[in-house]
Order: sequence, then structure tokens, then C-alpha cells
Amino acid sequence: KIFNVILSGGVGSRLWPLSRKQHPKQFLKLFSGKSLFELTAERNSSVVNEIMVVGNTDHIELSRQLLKDIALPQQFITETQARNTAAAIAFAALAVGHDDILIITPSDHLIQNQESYDRAIKEAIDLAKRDFLVTFGVVPSKPETGYGYIEYEGKDVLSFREKPNTETAQEFLDRGTFLWNSGMFCFKAGILLDELRKWQPEVYDTCLETWKLSKDNVIDSNASLRIPSISIDYAVMERSKKIKVIPAHFRWNDLGSFESLYDYLRSSGHFVDDNGNMIIGTDIFTAFVGMKNCILVHTSDAILILQKEKSQDVKKVYNQLEKYQ
Ligand code: GDD
Ligand code: MG
Repeated sequence: KIFNVILSGGVGSRLWPLSRKQHPKQFLKLFSGKSLFELTAERNSSVVNEIMVVGNTDHIELSRQLLKDIALPQQFITETQARNTAAAIAFAALAVGHDDILIITPSDHLIQNQESYDRAIKEAIDLAKRDFLVTFGVVPSKPETGYGYIEYEGKDVLSFREKPNTETAQEFLDRGTFLWNSGMFCFKAGILLDELRKWQPEVYDTCLETWKLSKDNVIDSNASLRIPSISIDYAVMERSKKIKVIPAHFRWNDLGSFESLYDYLRSSGHFVDDNGNMIIGTDIFTAFVGMKNCILVHTSDAILILQKEKSQDVKKVYNQLEKYQ
């Protein structure tokens, strides 16, 4: 069986104040009345047999609602504690059979060109059947530090580097042999678990113990606190020798930060002034004087003004502001 595992547990801290703890960005209906979460499920529904959502218990009802028009079997794994993507993916893998194929997709990406997406997924499934862990690579356009970088030769992966600093990212760009990791993966459940046990035995053991204590796909909250919080990229992708990459010819935008949201909005016609400044969320007349490449974000209870290049740092404000999240 082929599953689409939708990871929907992140809080979207880099998009505060648009994204809030109670209403993370994947549920914002920003795209012709639809959310990125719905678009993700729709995009995959033609290729898979079943949809599995792994996400926070607070949002599971909303997820169910949003998927009610999709005529595929659906499963929901609920976490009360976010333990990062290695754990979320391990739970999905533990919930199915060893040879079942998982197509892991974040819930917050915008992807255009369905035909070439379908082709990439089919190629990935073929490689996954041969026991590879498949990544999808995007041609990089700037030294972005929020992504993973895949050094490649054809479909072979020579190395994987998660979130390098700007200097290293620039070097990767100059060398021209790196792709961005899109954050989607395809593999057999059993192969992923074997690799996790090999490279991160503590994560594997604590996930397995937690899973055994969990009932009806509700993750045991106390047990899960013992799971080291690590992403699948650091835990497995940087280490495994079984990685392949499929070049992604579809249009891909990780709307993970204001910089990428800016790029997307600008390309779809949103107003930008002569100095590259953008306003999101208000029609109130706003002028930028002497500022370049800044973004002003307005919501009913918060205003954020940032330099576009500092988008990754919005997380820091979020972390300080428990009360407004
Ligand atoms: N269920 C669950 N539980 N989901 C989670 C959790 C968790 O604890 N933590 C994160 N997620 C979800 C997020 O909601 C998102 O959909 C996805 O997992 C990826 O997490 P991010 O936090 O967005 O990761 P990232 O953007 O820093 O990095 C990843 O994506 C990049 C591309 O967008 C990496 O895979 C990078 O290598 C990659 O370039
Ligand atoms: Mg992301």
C-alpha cells in the first residue's frame, strides 16, 4: 500500500504573527480559499491508497474537516508534544507494514505543475521499492540557510548537509553540484525504521517504546517526552548511504518564512514598492521612507516589521512572545 503521510505538527514560528499556535500557517486559507494543508492532500490523492496525518491533537478535528471531501481512507496520528520530524515519521512508519511505501510531505508547501509532480512521485516509488530513501531536489536560487543541501550526481547522493551557514551555502551554490532538499521523502516504512535504528538508536528505541504505550493512534504524551527532538534530516538523511534524489521539475515554494512568502506573493502580482518593500494584511495607507526590502505584516493584534533577509530570525520574536502566539 502507498500512504501519503502529511506532517502537520510544526507551529510555523517563522510566519508569526500570521501563523499562531492555535492556527498554524498550513491552515490559513491564503490560496483561492484553500489552505496549504488541503492542497497537499489533493495533490497526492491521485497517487496514493491512503492518507495519514501526523499532527498536534489541537488541530486534528480541523484536519478531519478539511479532508472530508477526499474519498480515500484516512488515519490520524495525534501528538500532544511535538518531538520533531524524526519521531513523527517513525510513528507513521510504525503504524503500517514493513513494505508499505510512505510519501512524506510537509503540509505547508506550495507546489505547481501537477503532471510533473506525479511523474516525480512515480519515479520515487520505483526507487523506494528497491529499498532506497528518496529525496526530491530543487535547483537552488540563493544561499538560503533554512534548507538542506543535497550534493548529487544523477540520482546518486554524494552528501546531504542540513541548514549550512550562509558562507557554506554560497560555496554549495558556486560549486553547482547541490540541490535544495524539498523536505518531501519517499521510502518503505521498514527501511526508514532500519536506518533510524542504525544511526539514532536512542530515537528509535524511545519512539518504539512510546508507540507501544500509545493507543488508537494517540501518542502517549509522557513517554514521548523521552524522545530526543531531532529532525529526520539530521537524524537520518545526513548519515544514510541509501539516499537517492529525484530532481523536481515542478514549481516548489516552501512558504516557511516571510522571504519565501514574499517571493511567492510578488510573483503572483502582490504590490511591491520601488525599493522592494511589501505590505501584508492591511489596506491602511503605509509608506516606507529610506527602507529597502522590508516587509510589514499587519494582523488584528500584532504588527511585525522586518528586513526581508532576516526572515529566519522571526522565530526569535515568536519564542519570546508566549502570550501572543
Ligand atoms: N507531526 C509533526 N510533529 N510534524 C512536525 C513536527 C512534529 O514534531 N515538527 C515539524 N513538523 C512538520 C512541519 O509542520 C512541516 O510540515 C514539516 O514537518 C517540516 O518541518 P519544518 O520545521 O518546516 O522543517 P524545515 O523547513 O526547517 O526543514 C525541512 O524542510 C526544508 C524544505 O522546506 C528540512 O527537510 C530541510 O532539509 C528542507 O530543505
Ligand atoms: Mg519548513
